[in-house]
Amino acid sequence: MKIIGANFKMNFKKDDINNYLEVIKNKFPIDNIIFFPSDLYIENFAKNNYLVGSQNISFQEFGAVTGDTSILQLKELGIKYTLIGHSERRKYFNDDNYIADKMKLALKNDIIPVLCIGESLREYENNLTKDKLKEQIDIALKDNRSDKIIIAYEPIWSIGTGKIPTNDILTEIISFIKNYINENYQINLKVIYGGSVNLDNILELNKINNLDGYLIGGATLNPNKFLELIDKIK
Ligand code: 13P
Repeated sequence: MKIIGANFKMNFKKDDINNYLEVIKNKFPIDNIIFFPSDLYIENFAKNNYLVGSQNISFQEFGAVTGDTSILQLKELGIKYTLIGHSERRKYFNDDNYIADKMKLALKNDIIPVLCIGESLREYENNLTKDKLKEQIDIALKDNRSDKIIIAYEPIWSIGTGKIPTNDILTEIISFIKNYINENYQINLKVIYGGSVNLDNILELNKINNLDGYLIGGATLNPNKFLELIDKIK
């Protein structure tokens, strides 16, 4: 069964979350769908027995880090997963500097890290995709080897733009990521794809054999449409 991650990003208020939960109630098997809501609403999903993850964790476990949220606090709310290194965090919060620390904290606390990697448009156009991915993988995995880790390949130029790589390119990149990690770290990791996944392109994406699932943003925000999407992924 494919992994489906729903990254709500910084969307929704309390009423929207309650409505969302009402719409999806008893609608699908819940063991392959992971919700990544704002920290404030993690408990709402956990309480209803959905798999839930945080969009981020602090690079420190506890202490003087104003405004951050500790993995220990998030664990109490019910997370089983956390995104690490989403490109929006790398862009706005210098997360490139904290990836290794966050990976270590997640694994130490038995939380599954969903490590987000991906190249910029400039890197893509200059044929630097594989170099960029290697660099991001090495920083994250050097001291943090675990076959629990999930890799989310999210080309930055594809996030929220409606543009996606062709199936041939995705097949090649996914196999590159899996082989590179296997050869250099002796582990086999699942790789999921994120970037403008939607109802129009999902059937085509589903044809990619080596893809283990999706990390989806915008197309998860309408619960009815998300249900339709899930139906096509099964
Ligand atoms: P979109 O699906 O909105 O392009 O977002 C992808 C993403 O960033 C998921 O983490």
